[in-house]
Amino acid sequence: MTTLALPSPDRYDAWLACVRDFGDGPTDGSGAWMLPELRPDRASFDALLAATAAEADTAVPPPQGKVHSDYWWVTEGSAVVGFLAVRHALNDFLLRQGGHIGYSIAPSYRRRGHATRALALGVARARELGIARVLVTCSEDNVASARTIERNGGVFEDVREGKRRYWIEA
Ligand SMILES: CC(C)(COP(=O)(O)OP(=O)(O)OC[C@H]1O[C@@H](n2cnc3c(N)ncnc32)[C@H](O)[C@@H]1OP(=O)(O)O)[C@@H](O)C(=O)NCCC(=O)NCCS
Repeated sequence: MTTLALPSPDRYDAWLACVRDFGDGPTDGSGAWMLPELRPDRASFDALLAATAAEADTAVPPPQGKVHSDYWWVTEGSAVVGFLAVRHALNDFLLRQGGHIGYSIAPSYRRRGHATRALALGVARARELGIARVLVTCSEDNVASARTIERNGGVFEDVREGKRRYWIEA
């Protein structure tokens, strides 16, 4: 079963296995963009936990030009199999390119429906945040992500700067 779990300091080993599985591949939704580099080590883990918790904290205004985001681990049992982020709002960049939700599944766990189910759970989280229409985007050549969005009822709007843009009714 695919679930979303909050990042936990107690699950370093599961996180480490997941990050090793990704290797140099994209970890959309992990929050790694906030680090100089994502490495499979304790320092990256601690830095990521701190950075993602800070970005989720609505008691503190986000930095100029940024928005609050909730970060989730996609899990199956005790394994961390991927990442998913739900942005609370759209800024100019997110409206054009990034969308409300970003996600990735580790290579060993792909093609088992995890992304499709995780996106559905992410849309439910967005609804809880009061977002009625969820923007989800993918690169024009990302067939797997386009299918993931379409399986979740994404309605194609257009392509902007190489990104296919879809809206999902939450
Ligand atoms: C895109 C990604 C999240 C898909 O994860 P996944 O768990 O393998 O996806 P699912 O198993 O839910 O499959 C979703 C759909 O895509 C299809 N699909 C998956 N991988 C595919 C591939 N390599 N080529 C063609 N179709 C593919 C599946 O068949 C399924 O379609 P279907 O339901 O019509 O059969 C994963 O490939 C990934 O993490 N890629 C790198 C990061 C990334 O691109 N993130 C998205 C950024 S927008």
